[in-house]
Amino acid sequence: MDKILIHGGHPLSGSIKISGSKNSALPILAATLLTREPCILRRVPDLSDTHYMLQILMHLGAQVERASGTVTVNAETIESIAPYEVVRKMRASVCVLGPLLGRCKEATVSLPGGCVIGDRPIDLHLKGFEALGAAVRVEGGNVKVFAPKLIGAIVSLTGKFGPTVLGTDNVMMAAVLAEGITVIEGAATEPEVVDLANFLIKMGAKIEGAGTRRLIIDGVKELHGAEHDVIPDRIEAGTFLVAGAIAGKGVTIKRVVPEHISSVTDALTACGYQIQCAENSITVSPNGTAQPIELATEPYPGFPTDMQAQMCALLSTTDGISVITENIFPQRYMHVAELKRMGAHMQLEGATAVIQGVERLLGAPVMASDLRASAALVLAGLKAEGQTEVSRVYHIDRGYEHLDEKLSELGAHIERMKG
Ligand code: EPU
Repeated sequence: MDKILIHGGHPLSGSIKISGSKNSALPILAATLLTREPCILRRVPDLSDTHYMLQILMHLGAQVERASGTVTVNAETIESIAPYEVVRKMRASVCVLGPLLGRCKEATVSLPGGCVIGDRPIDLHLKGFEALGAAVRVEGGNVKVFAPKLIGAIVSLTGKFGPTVLGTDNVMMAAVLAEGITVIEGAATEPEVVDLANFLIKMGAKIEGAGTRRLIIDGVKELHGAEHDVIPDRIEAGTFLVAGAIAGKGVTIKRVVPEHISSVTDALTACGYQIQCAENSITVSPNGTAQPIELATEPYPGFPTDMQAQMCALLSTTDGISVITENIFPQRYMHVAELKRMGAHMQLEGATAVIQGVERLLGAPVMASDLRASAALVLAGLKAEGQTEVSRVYHIDRGYEHLDEKLSELGAHIERMKG
């Protein structure tokens, strides 16, 4: 298993380009199952998660070609069963359920389990399919959904922790081929949901309201092939902004949509960093003394849960007491114990982390536990004195395209040890 070694204390400067969004690319790849015609997707990031999704599509019968960031999928004939062996590696595999149900009127997909960020139920996805007239059965670790035909309906997809991103994607992908009109109330408004809706519209779907809490979908008989550029990854962008804040002299991220991460730039501004936004780029620079802040994760446009761990790393060396509350995945704090091993002072009180900023972190061997927690450890390593060794780097490779190479371009002393 690969490890990443970081020699902290080397200031970052310069610019890097942000890759296509993982969380857009995954459901958009799944959406190619909705048509018999070829689809061409550009800016698909080179990540293990996108590779897993392509493997699932191929298992289902699609032909896939990949040339650098461009992926062509031809799902002329497909089957509707995705077994455990092909879906177990990635929870987002669940988003093939909607397109398979839409096109084949049945789908059997192995159920995703929980993961280190907490329980990951799919009850809201299933509620949406049932509202469209599908029967749902859970047997032998698989979820089976089937319907002689899908009929438009009104359904709310907000649960205890707010709207569901992949649930909205899934139900929208089934509803585009249902008879009549579907209204999804309490829909997720994340930019990735809007990107998927835009791709579906290019395929011939009739969808209104993407980016609002109410989606109105007028079902069509069939969809056709389409071409699409995946939006920039706002979480990768946010992670590099925090890298610039934690260890930078002035770092610019290019090929971003600043509006998509305004909650992150607002938080960094509140911490005392200088942020300059242009049309497609953002620069973060130090600006005197950093301040502690209070922060809570919320559905978009609030502060993203996928940036919570990285902010913990930043605030761990910001003088004063900062408070972070995780409202989406209350148990998503696996990075805390590892950051403490590097000298951070933080205390968990339920879903809230109380962080007492320390003057310095010390490099240590630490273990990545999930994607964003791993990124937080790398960020802490950039600041820490001495060497930080991050193991289980495969978590990072799931969601960050060439993170170590991009940080190295900015001047970080970072290397990957193949293992
Ligand atoms: N939830 C339910 N029932 C459901 C679905 C979700 O109770 O049927 C709960 C979840 O347990 C959670 C909340 O609703 O408390 C929100 O979960 P959501 O369904 O929105 O998460 P997701 O769609 O499974 C996506 C991203 C995550 C990101 C979340 C929240 C992808 C592939 N994954 O997951 O990204 O944290 O939305 O924004 O898009 C990551 O990239 O590191 C990552 C974990």
